[in-house]
Amino acid sequence: MQQDSTTDYDFAVIGAGPGGYVAAIKAAQLGLKTVLIEKSPHLGGTCLNVGCIPSKALLHSTELFHKIEHEAADNGISVKGLTMNVAGLMKKKESVVTKLRGGLIQLMAQNKVEVRHGLGRLLGNGKIEIASGKTKAVISAKNIVIATGSTSIELPFMPFDGETIVSSDEGIAFTEVPKKMAIVGAGAIGLELGSVWARLGSDVTIIELLPNVAPTFDNDICKAAERSFKKQGLKFELGAKVTGVKQAKGKTYLTAERGSEKLEIEADKILVAVGRRPFSEGLGAADIGLKLDERKRIVVDGHGQTNLPGVFAIGDITVGPMLAHKAEEEGVAIAERAAGKAGHVNYEVIPNVVYTSPEIASVGLSEAEAKAKGYTVRIGKMLFAANGRGIASDATDGLVKVIACAKTDKLLGVQMIGEHVSEIIAEAVAHMEYGGSAEDLSRTVHAHPTLSETLKAAATMVGNR
Ligand code: NAI
Repeated sequence: MQQDSTTDYDFAVIGAGPGGYVAAIKAAQLGLKTVLIEKSPHLGGTCLNVGCIPSKALLHSTELFHKIEHEAADNGISVKGLTMNVAGLMKKKESVVTKLRGGLIQLMAQNKVEVRHGLGRLLGNGKIEIASGKTKAVISAKNIVIATGSTSIELPFMPFDGETIVSSDEGIAFTEVPKKMAIVGAGAIGLELGSVWARLGSDVTIIELLPNVAPTFDNDICKAAERSFKKQGLKFELGAKVTGVKQAKGKTYLTAERGSEKLEIEADKILVAVGRRPFSEGLGAADIGLKLDERKRIVVDGHGQTNLPGVFAIGDITVGPMLAHKAEEEGVAIAERAAGKAGHVNYEVIPNVVYTSPEIASVGLSEAEAKAKGYTVRIGKMLFAANGRGIASDATDGLVKVIACAKTDKLLGVQMIGEHVSEIIAEAVAHMEYGGSAEDLSRTVHAHPTLSETLKAAATMVGNR
């Protein structure tokens, strides 16, 4: 094995997703000698290569198509012979991903982050083996950050075959529109990819174990989401437990049960989107005594510190929401602390967004969570149907809901469904970051006419101000 003489680092990161590459850049900017280790030929991890970014490109292209198809006529625009081809759709998606991959390579060079491609394995005592083909090298670092991310969860009774039973990795790359598509799970991936293929004419049915669409949001948001998506042609089987896949007369069916009712959904593609699990294959975590929890996540304290000195973990491999921006913030905080500065993540205010049309977004506690924590809450709501900009721009579907503490008026959470709420939620995050009240939000001047006025109006409705 080769021990490279130039390989003493202050800061080594394993995994170049948004958690890992952001940590590496920050550490290098703070003067730490930094290496970023990545097993794939591309930087960017799940988010850039097969997750957030390609799915947003597909959502944008298909939303454009859907709007022209369904809204152009009402705006005095006539379009003849409108078509969309999947090859063109995928080409656009690839160009977006390629551009950002190139940007990342440049960023690493500009910030003097050394990138080493290969599988990183922890050897203990600050050492990491990097294996690439037949070559192995060992480096050492004072601080090691594990940012190896997550992978799709497989249902044991219907394993992925890459063709008919697929994960989101294939679901973003079909070469033709599936005639009939069954999706297991009405969470972020199921709703986003279900929307993409339904807009192109696929007959999409989403099967969800819980009684609601997007079940992590408050009930009224879930109901509004269900109504909107049904209007777009998505079908739902809620409160149904998937039992398997069967073949009959050359056709494939997803089977499920709801109480005594038996469901059979014909599908040429079955997308399983029931969550993701931490990915640590080949890392050697157990060999060096790294503590994992019952779900194989690396156990960390509030600052990403594992049970081993000098070893940290961030992002999907640890506890918390599997979201790129959560991983990024953790990466920055760990780099800052390694450089002797203060670094901190406010876990109370991590926004969550589903990029469908309308979009769904939340931050902080839902009404149900706030009540479960013992708060007496005051709620303010406003519909997009009452918003001038919404009416002028065909964006009347949806609502904003502000949840405040009845005693102090402090904002506890905000939930929204509507066009562009992925952007509007940032305002709620900022108010909450500064400990703002519903009254603060209500007294903040908003440009008129904007969709963001619904947030101000909902805050004003708290306590019928
Ligand atoms: P998810 O956790 O968001 O949703 C999975 C859904 O599947 C849940 O509603 C769950 O009740 C349901 N489910 C679980 N087992 C089931 C079964 N056997 N039968 C029927 N339904 C079942 O997971 P998803 O959508 O796969 O996304 C994975 C991760 O990636 C999540 O952590 C998500 O936050 C993240 N992600 C985030 C996005 C975003 O921020 N817009 C986009 C895509 C993914």
